[in-house]
Amino acid sequence: MKLIDGKAVAAQIKLEIAKEVKQLIDKGQKRPHLAAILVGHDGGSETYVRNKVKSCEECGFESTLIRYEDNVTEKELLAKVTELNNNQDIDGFIVQLPLPKHISEQKVIEAIDYRKDVDGFHPINVGRMSIGLPCYISATPNGILELLKRYNIETEGKKCVVLGRSNIVGKPMASLMMQKQYPGNATVTVCHSRSKDLVKECQSADIIIAALGQPEFVTADMVKEGAVIIDVGTTRVPSTETKSGFRLKGDIKFDEVAPKCSYITPVPGGVGPMTIVSLMRNTLLAGKKEIYQ
Ligand code: GUN
Repeated sequence: MKLIDGKAVAAQIKLEIAKEVKQLIDKGQKRPHLAAILVGHDGGSETYVRNKVKSCEECGFESTLIRYEDNVTEKELLAKVTELNNNQDIDGFIVQLPLPKHISEQKVIEAIDYRKDVDGFHPINVGRMSIGLPCYISATPNGILELLKRYNIETEGKKCVVLGRSNIVGKPMASLMMQKQYPGNATVTVCHSRSKDLVKECQSADIIIAALGQPEFVTADMVKEGAVIIDVGTTRVPSTETKSGFRLKGDIKFDEVAPKCSYITPVPGGVGPMTIVSLMRNTLLAGKKEIYQ
């Protein structure tokens, strides 16, 4: 079994980005600038956004954090999105999800100029991704592709089971794993809460990408000998052993699954750091106007 070290790969990519940013600055070009909107005080979102801002510093990007309380109106938020769309200094921006119930996430996502949508959530970017056109690809699936690439993991003709059908991970992941290029060319099955044969599907999978958000859902009996296991789960569970009072649990029962597989991502330190670094890669592309003018 080989551990896929997302933390180390992410650190390496950040160095690569920082080097490229330095070259841009040396040529007299503008420093890429990412803005993030954070609504409320959800613990998970606070941590993600804090790490995004920190990663911007490490990459040499400028960053701006815009905060609102939970009671911000949809109108106010949409007005800020329009302002960021029109702000020439901002190359890309994100609105951290989830948003409070009284705000339509879809409306907010669609209000973002797709040319600044470094999360890759806008329907134009999703559509372009699904037909293989240049676009911003959402961060978690893109981070997973990068891990498969950097570990030279074969995907062509393999049976890939994606667990979960979210717009952010499951759906784009399935679409990318079937695209006609490496990493891709896989035979993809998507399983979700209503699937009847989920266990059987997993048992025959060469690659399992688990994004259900159900801690330790995938057990050893569900995994074929030699399978590649990618764990997207990051559920916070209470813990007396950490300072924060919680720890992250993946969707894979790691201790029993690890000995059976050829490659596996740990939680934490697997997919998580790659998600943030993928956002940094999209921000660099935005700064260089490489995808859209
Ligand atoms: N919430 C969970 N993951 C993400 C992400 O990748 N981007 C944003 N904006 N919100 C999220």
